[in-house]
Amino acid sequence: MQGTAIAQPNIALIKYWGKRDVALNLPAVGSISITLRDLHTRMHVTFDDALEADELTINGVPDQGMLPRLASCLDRVVEHDRRCARIDSQCNFPIAAGLASSASSFAALTVAAAHAAGKAMTTAELASLAGQASGSAARSLLGGFVELVNTDDGIAVETLCDADEWPLEVVVAITETGPKAVGSTEAMEISRKTSPFYANWVDQQAADLDTARAAIDDRDFDALARVAEHNCLKMHSIMWASRPPMVYWNAATMRCLETVRALQARDVAVFFTIDAGPQVKAVCLPEHAADVEGALRATPGVEDIMVSGLGPGARLESTP
Ligand code: DP6
Repeated sequence: MQGTAIAQPNIALIKYWGKRDVALNLPAVGSISITLRDLHTRMHVTFDDALEADELTINGVPDQGMLPRLASCLDRVVEHDRRCARIDSQCNFPIAAGLASSASSFAALTVAAAHAAGKAMTTAELASLAGQASGSAARSLLGGFVELVNTDDGIAVETLCDADEWPLEVVVAITETGPKAVGSTEAMEISRKTSPFYANWVDQQAADLDTARAAIDDRDFDALARVAEHNCLKMHSIMWASRPPMVYWNAATMRCLETVRALQARDVAVFFTIDAGPQVKAVCLPEHAADVEGALRATPGVEDIMVSGLGPGARLESTP
């Protein structure tokens, strides 16, 4: 009645922003991401008759705030009356750093819980369950370059290219560690209901996905850079034009973009992407990682840097 699984966060290059079904948490658009290697969440789940309520610890500290969302995910995995669970989450990167800790957490939780419940599930079933908890979590089921595809009745995930087939590096510049003003679930709905750019975004996503898929097939870094930056700035434009406006950037975010532009002017193969927070993720070829890291570290307002290559999808860990 127990299972341990490990999963890494992923960074979207072609973003998921907006839902076509809020109740089922189905995305309005497909997306393409890269799964990281060096940051991870390990989830241990035990179903135990002796417990009177679900329990959660995050890095050894009891936590009530995240518990309802994790418990709902367990309900969906187990389906019928389930025993109470002890969930132990260990994360090797700052949870408040805006690095999609929910993606790695829900991917690992789904895999661990399915094992603990004795349910043999396909990757498609696990991705669908993880995606109901958090849309981006479905992509962390797989490694390398991953596409999330909207299907008639849900979602599917597929690997476009394995991590070792195109080994890029991601340098994350952390510019602020406080909680975000508006969570992405709520922000997406505000965008859908109020942004004049939202409908265009949904219409144009297929073209961006096609361009990115072709760039990945061809290992064409410049083409991937152009479409990823464009897609990211479109997503932020929707947020800026929403009512109320949602601006996740700070002054250091902008300075990091200038740093990336200066690196590009020196022919350094790097591009930026930014999610619903102020951190800048700089994606680069491995031979440029030290240069990119040094330049971002020297950028005023950058508090910390994390560097990761690309890695595998969520997997069970053998319990001793
Ligand atoms: C900007 O997966 O956190 O990071 O499904 O509401 O939990 P919910 O949203 P979430 O949104 C991620 C948004 C994004 C872009 C992306 O990862 O594709």
